[in-house]
Amino acid sequence: MLRWPCPSTALKMSSTLPDTGTQTSSSRLRCIHCGAITDHADQDFRCGECGNLYEIFFPGWETPDGLRAAGMGPDALKQLWRERKLSLLPADTSGVWRFRELLPALKTGHDPITLREGNTPLYELPQCARSAGMQALRAKHQGMNPTASFKDTGMTTAASFARQEGFRWVACASTGNTSASMAAYAARGGMRSLVLIPEGKISWGKLSQALDYGAVTCQLRTDFDGCVKVLNELVRRKPIYLLNSVNPYRLEGQKTAAIELMEQLNWQPPDHIIVPGGNLGNSSAIGKALLEMRDLGLIFRLPKLSVIQAEGANPFYRSIHEQGGKTLTPMQADTLATAIRIGNPASWKKALRVVQASEGAVEQVSEVEIALAKAEIGSDGVGCEPASAVTLAGLKKLVKQGFVKPNESVVLILTGHVLKDPEFTLHFHRGDLFSGTSHEKEAGMLAGQQRAPLVLDATVEAVEAALGRFDSERP
Ligand code: F0G
Repeated sequence: MLRWPCPSTALKMSSTLPDTGTQTSSSRLRCIHCGAITDHADQDFRCGECGNLYEIFFPGWETPDGLRAAGMGPDALKQLWRERKLSLLPADTSGVWRFRELLPALKTGHDPITLREGNTPLYELPQCARSAGMQALRAKHQGMNPTASFKDTGMTTAASFARQEGFRWVACASTGNTSASMAAYAARGGMRSLVLIPEGKISWGKLSQALDYGAVTCQLRTDFDGCVKVLNELVRRKPIYLLNSVNPYRLEGQKTAAIELMEQLNWQPPDHIIVPGGNLGNSSAIGKALLEMRDLGLIFRLPKLSVIQAEGANPFYRSIHEQGGKTLTPMQADTLATAIRIGNPASWKKALRVVQASEGAVEQVSEVEIALAKAEIGSDGVGCEPASAVTLAGLKKLVKQGFVKPNESVVLILTGHVLKDPEFTLHFHRGDLFSGTSHEKEAGMLAGQQRAPLVLDATVEAVEAALGRFDSERP
């Protein structure tokens, strides 16, 4: 097997990561199952001893005074990160690298590849709160990243390490967003990118992004899980850097969504954070960040982290509810939320750990519940892609079950922008999203949310009449 040196042994900051009076700590790789520690991962980022995934940990955080990132206490870290908001340096204007004390360090002389990712807004969702039976509800919109999904926060870190190690090619299997993000960061970093996507099962918006950023884009006649198999074999044969979320450097960058969220909440954790679950990298990353922030004294309690899957792509839900999380049985996945159409999630053991540690829940939601929730998020003027809407649909269920109380604070993580999948939205509003499917009857409940475009004669009277009809329908 091809091997490359683990970049995380570097102790110094890159030249564009100015040393503002601090030092970063060294990091190493540790197998999540057998605990084997290494500084050299194989191409597939799996433990040479037992085949499980690696995670990054920071031995340098251990000091006689307790855990300290870069030797700094919680108040000093918070102040440093706040001060960097005034800086115009690329690494400081990135919402990921601004928190670099909690990330593996690039070697001196290596710049991060950044598109100024992160820095995403936290919105109030008053209408969604009402429909979920909550007093208030907020959403952190990771779809407001440079390529319009949360993937950018992890891609800036992993792509930077790929370039540091001298790779010419990077590659991923994807349901669309990872490929769009990888293609952009590879292009910015002067690397070539190879995308493997399932034929016909990803949205045009995402496919067109990969093409625009110059990726070699292969539509394979299989699903996402089939693409992963092909890619895993390919990286064993060729010196190609794997940028799927099994790559632990991806998850390190994705951690910053949770760090930034806590900063936006003035370091007062919400009661619940709710994320969609596909390959389960994002939930793992957010959970890792929460645990690390607690251990470093940045927050004083853990929010409950809950993961929501689509009913048609629910292997994690089934693992928890049918097998007590002991094993996960892969399945043939199917859902219109194509981003999470995944039957064999690579990071399920990592996700299980953080859901259990935070005492969160794992729920599933139907196709119609996803569609309704997506329209409701749109009604709050926010919008998201279908996979993100599972969070609101899941919250409604968790409220009904009493797991979430109406007066508790909840943050939904919206993972992708509404423009990622406009076809879904158009079919929804035209009323034919579920035509000819087994969901047709249940879809009757969506009528109140549907607003098909009206084709009218070009006269003021025609528009006035339409307005009149609308007024009488919805007083
Ligand atoms: N939401 C969106 C919009 C996604 O694109 C994905 C995953 C998820 C949620 C689930 O996140 O896999 O970390 O649990 N998309 C991947 C891709 C698989 O290839 O773009 P996860």
